[in-house]
Formats: sequence, structure tokens, C-alpha cells
Amino acid sequence: MAFEKAADLSALTENIPHRVDVAGVPVSLVLVGDEVFAIHDTCSHQDYSLSEGMIWDCAIECSLHGSMFDLRTGAPSSLPATTAVPVFPVQRDGDAVLVDVTAPMNDAPYPDH
Ligand code: FES
Repeated sequence: MAFEKAADLSALTENIPHRVDVAGVPVSLVLVGDEVFAIHDTCSHQDYSLSEGMIWDCAIECSLHGSMFDLRTGAPSSLPATTAVPVFPVQRDGDAVLVDVTAPMNDAPYPDH
């Protein structure tokens, strides 16, 4: 486990994706209620930033072609994407949001396009 600071909680706006770089990995942080989710920022369909998308309940919608990904599992729930996106564990330390990009919580491949 290698948690690194990704952002200040106070800098996040609920239901608005926030793109950060954690140890060289692009990550989209999303505050939903009082929980912060961390999902790889690159869509599994094409090379496009998920942080450009919108949040629906606990899913992020890729704004390029509309695939939805569950923020808890990274799994797509609509086409054209058919492959999950890595999701990462999040911890909080005071106002700091910590993410471990070395220990994804699913077996999704890192997007390589
Ligand atoms: S690039 Fe995300 S659905 Fe196509």
C-alpha cells in the first residue's frame, strides 16, 4: 500500500469530477455525499478524460460517447465501453484525500490507448 495525497477535500465539489495526478497516474476524484471515489481518468473505450463527464448517482458518464462507469467497481453499464476502468482505494487524513494507485480494487487493465 502506498497512499499518496491526491487533493484537499475542501477543494472538491460534490458530484463534479476533479482530475489529479497521483504518482504519474491520471485519476478522477469524485465526492458523492461524504464519500470520495477515485477512478482512473482514462476511459476504457478511447483515450478520453472521464473528468470531462457528469456524475449520475454513483456513476461517471464519459462525455465523448456516453458510457457509464460505476465509481465503486469501475464496471461499464452502457456501451460502447465494454471493459472496466481501474478504481483505487481512498483514505482521508483530516482535509487530505489519499489515493493508492498501486492497489486497484478491481482487475481492470490500465488503459493503454
Ligand atoms: S471515449 Fe469514453 S465512451 Fe468512448
